[in-house]
Amino acid sequence: MDATLIKTVNKLQDAFATVGVQNPVDLPQITVIGSQSSGKSSVLENIVGRDFLPRGTGIVTRRPLVLQLIHRPATGPEVNGKASEADKDDEKVKENDKPSEGKDPHENPDEWGEFLHLPGQKFYDFNKIREEIAKDTELKTGKNAGKIFSPNVLTLTLVDLPGLTKVPVGDQPKNIETQIREMLLKYINKPNSIILAVTAANTDLANSDGLKMAREVDPEGSRTIGVLTKIDLMDQGTDVVDILAGRIIPLRLGYVPVVNRGQRDIEHKKSIKSALDNEKEFFENHPSYRSKAQYCGTSYLARRLNMVLMYHIRSTLPEIKAKIQAALAKYQLELNQLGDPLGDSSAHQANLVLSIITEFCTEFRTTIDGNSNELSS
Ligand code: GDP
Ligand code: NA
Ligand code: MG
Repeated sequence: MDATLIKTVNKLQDAFATVGVQNPVDLPQITVIGSQSSGKSSVLENIVGRDFLPRGTGIVTRRPLVLQLIHRPATGPEVNGKASEADKDDEKVKENDKPSEGKDPHENPDEWGEFLHLPGQKFYDFNKIREEIAKDTELKTGKNAGKIFSPNVLTLTLVDLPGLTKVPVGDQPKNIETQIREMLLKYINKPNSIILAVTAANTDLANSDGLKMAREVDPEGSRTIGVLTKIDLMDQGTDVVDILAGRIIPLRLGYVPVVNRGQRDIEHKKSIKSALDNEKEFFENHPSYRSKAQYCGTSYLARRLNMVLMYHIRSTLPEIKAKIQAALAKYQLELNQLGDPLGDSSAHQANLVLSIITEFCTEFRTTIDGNSNELSS
């Protein structure tokens, strides 16, 4: 995710915390929808940039996974030392704090996961996070809820959803399709949910389950981004250029073609970094895409997502600004009446927040102008 946006939003949220307002910017939820094995989990994982979601052929995601990303600044070594002192009496935490035989080469003391069903346990090994998610997906109902703490994420929620099932398998009820449909609708109905409608490029767009459902809840297309996966698996001589140009099924926010890791890459544990490098190379060298490679791939999808988030934040700013101005007026009144030194510092903080919002608006405008050609579709 975009570092500038992360920095700005977190500065805003920290400033608000000092005047007692928690999470003033209600960031949208990012939801993936599409057919089974279209690549939904792969897309989400690439956006976060860490391996932690169960992926594969067949039904791997059996129930919704609601994952809260929580931005937490990197801490220095002394702070870490203190934190582990405090955790000493917690056996469970100690258990998972043990370094895990270098299984995850990206293990980082500032990034970890937690699960609602395992309170107090911290997972620093993202392979273990994946195992835990997979273990907990066997239950038929309910959702799997987790949190990822990291300095490299925006505080927002990701939702990984199962694909629509047409034919019941095993002991699944006869009306499984209706049940899953209703469950999916519940998630994508929320007006603050950004929908990534995922369709495999080697299937027919007109039959896309993801697009169909997205249109039901977002007919204007104001919060749906089309994602075309498996571009690498298309028959030679075919491409998605007509779809990208909006000539097949137009979508207001457009489509982004991506190449995720294939089943072989998963088996060979190909890293996200080399997958993203290969993806970039693929689009830059492909005769159909090389002239528009900057509008292809995961990095472009992340930029598009940032734009949608920025618009969302901007639309909430007037309300936030009004709140702060009201607080400032109140502090100033108190200050005038009492000459209270505390009132003085509160007024100072409110002023600080206002200047940060102003700064944010300026930064925002710069970003929008810098990307204005991306908004043509
Ligand atoms: P989901 O069921 O929609 O969540 O799909 P997954 O992310 O689990 O992916 C399903 C299968 O498709 C896995 O074997 C992935 O490796 C594979 N896959 C997903 N995206 C791509 C892609 O862009 N290219 C290739 N070759 N395989 C992909
Ligand atoms: Na799958
Ligand atoms: Mg999945």
